[in-house]
Amino acid sequence: MAEQIAFAHTGFFTSEPAERLADRLIAHAPQGLDRVYPVSGGSEAVEAALKLARQYFLERGEPQRTRFIARRQSYHGNTLGALSTGGNAWRREPFAPLMIDTSHIAPCYAYRDREEGESQEAYGQRVADELETELQRLGPETVIGFVAEPVVGATLGAVPAVPGYFKRIREICDRHGILLILDEVMCGMGRTGTLFACEQDGIVPDIATIAKGLGAGYQPVGAMLCSARIYDAIESGSGFFQHGHTYIGHPMACAAADAVVAKLTDGGMTARAARMGAVLETALNDAFGQHPNVGDIRGRGMFRGLELVADRDSKTPFDPARAVHKELKAAAFEAGLICYPMGGTIDGRQGDHILLAPPFILTEDQIGELVDKLSSALDTTLT
Ligand SMILES: Cc1ncc(COP(=O)(O)O)c(C=O)c1O
Repeated sequence: MAEQIAFAHTGFFTSEPAERLADRLIAHAPQGLDRVYPVSGGSEAVEAALKLARQYFLERGEPQRTRFIARRQSYHGNTLGALSTGGNAWRREPFAPLMIDTSHIAPCYAYRDREEGESQEAYGQRVADELETELQRLGPETVIGFVAEPVVGATLGAVPAVPGYFKRIREICDRHGILLILDEVMCGMGRTGTLFACEQDGIVPDIATIAKGLGAGYQPVGAMLCSARIYDAIESGSGFFQHGHTYIGHPMACAAADAVVAKLTDGGMTARAARMGAVLETALNDAFGQHPNVGDIRGRGMFRGLELVADRDSKTPFDPARAVHKELKAAAFEAGLICYPMGGTIDGRQGDHILLAPPFILTEDQIGELVDKLSSALDTTLT
């Protein structure tokens, strides 16, 4: 079904494996993601998303829309467009003069930012409303879209939004006619226990990006998905998405990705990630729920984060000069555990977290092993 391969009409050849991958993805994606543009990785998918969003408004005769809004403490890739939308202060800093026009609002980070006595829902509405405020400040007619990770990965350490946050974000985007672009490069493809992470937030973006798990970590591949509305605006307009790379729709990459998505869906691996993710959550809570230096345990499915603190009650972070995350990474590796500790959790400088993203084939015994090894790495680092 060649129609599923968005942009086949660009003149770039497509391939049968790309068409099969697109059909399979669309069959399992939330309703409203209708077209697929396969690329070679996450940053490429994000670049394609940003350019598609801009071109959509050009086709509609709204060239004054030139800006994006994204969130602080996020990561969308290292190419210039993706780096511009990312809110990771130290990664952006050297390249800031080269960046496209993006403003950054607060992430949805309840552990740090929810106020005393404020409900999760009230916090979510308050922080989502920062999008409305920023749109008003910029003039909504100048904005292309809002970019966010449904579950923030490397920069915050597996932080999902509170209930209702993304519904509110979706409403605000719709009210102002801007596009919602969700970056599922890290949290998508079954990682959180559903094929797309946003399924658990009950919303559908206009554009989504996926990569990483799409190739099961072996095959370089990514994809951008978009709604029929966006695709149709281009098809019935210029008829040409002004983008492309040598390897878009690459047959080998798409064949591998198609095999992965088949395993994730009909092969039951996403359901397994949900099931074993719950076991992992319990094991982490049992082992570290009262740990004096673990302030928060969070995440969904096989995507879990622990935020480290010097003092649990006051949530005081460790001195950044100590670089606890680096010590911990080495200690965990020494103990036989590959995990992803990172610093700068709070503001790009302060805070430390550990990101856990184990393989979906993880067994209960291995969950025990993971917890034991992490526990010994924490002991080595913090005592
Ligand atoms: C959420 C998110 N978006 C985009 C990217 C960039 O992907 P890649 O490294 O494949 O270019 C990453 C990579 O870590 C990511 O986590």
